[in-house]
Amino acid sequence: MPEPIIAFDAVTYTYAGTDEPALHEISFEIQPGEYVAILGLNGAGKTTLGLCVNGVIPTMLGGELEGTVTVGGLDVSEYPVREMSKLVGVVFDNPEFQMSQMSVAEEVALGLENAGVPYEEMKRIIPDTLELVGLAGFEERSPLGLSGGQQQRLAIAAVLAMKPQILIMDEPTSNLDPIGKQEVFDMAARLNSERGMTVIVIEHEVEVMARYADRVIVLDGGRVIMNGTPQEIFSRVEELAALKLRVPEAAELATILRTEYGDWDGPVPITTEPAVAAVNDLLGATRD
Ligand SMILES: Nc1ncnc2c1ncn2[C@@H]1O[C@H](COP(=O)(O)OP(=O)(O)OP(=O)(O)O)[C@@H](O)[C@H]1O
Ligand SMILES: [Mg+2]
Repeated sequence: MPEPIIAFDAVTYTYAGTDEPALHEISFEIQPGEYVAILGLNGAGKTTLGLCVNGVIPTMLGGELEGTVTVGGLDVSEYPVREMSKLVGVVFDNPEFQMSQMSVAEEVALGLENAGVPYEEMKRIIPDTLELVGLAGFEERSPLGLSGGQQQRLAIAAVLAMKPQILIMDEPTSNLDPIGKQEVFDMAARLNSERGMTVIVIEHEVEVMARYADRVIVLDGGRVIMNGTPQEIFSRVEELAALKLRVPEAAELATILRTEYGDWDGPVPITTEPAVAAVNDLLGATRD
């Protein structure tokens, strides 16, 4: 096994001015190149966990952090966020809110300028990065004139321009229509599979996570309560339902059919194609 790129070791975190920890005794590791989905109800601690990875917690937000968060071999509490942002890029839910410049090119340039990247290098990085997110040739367009999906991909480009090894997306598609959602998830999957980028997605879109994620971590009340492959996690349909968490429709359908028609061959289907196969299996069996 290579060194983990992210390691939480017994992390308990309490925001300044609060009594109850937002994260309790969290331990897990993420390997380089993994695509990890974080699931949990509102208030479960998903965003807090993300802020620990880019070092905003504890460096900027203060509060009390016990245990250690190690990212790229660095203890996050010992490095300024500016330093961590070379390693970790974070994108939030509202792309429009993240746009502040007159043109797409300036939007991508902003972080590079702040990092002191020379102009000549910026001229090379900007088109390359726009290409990466499917916005080649958009340099002179106004960010506000883009679709929601394009804006979110631009926000991601601005982060990718810094060449981070880790991309964290915190509910990146909650304000997007179905096409915009698809654009963003396809792009994240490509960055992961073709560029080997470590991707962490905080999401409620369980269908997408079932299809793309290597691993799913479920948070509840600031604790990690499940950590496994999508197949392992989404097979636990009753437990997830008891936690009021959604499961992929394929798994839900299969579970209903199971109580009516008995078992099919193989594991609980979590994506469409295996669900169709399971239904065929069951209907075939009843036809015999
Ligand atoms: N800046 C803050 N100061 C104090 N408490 C906070 C702060 N931010 C979050 N919390 C608390 O920490 C806990 C975890 O919040 P967090 O935002 O991480 O949850 P989440 O899983 O991202 O929820 P959501 O799905 O609503 O985004 C909650 O109890 C929340 O009220
Ligand atoms: Mg959140």
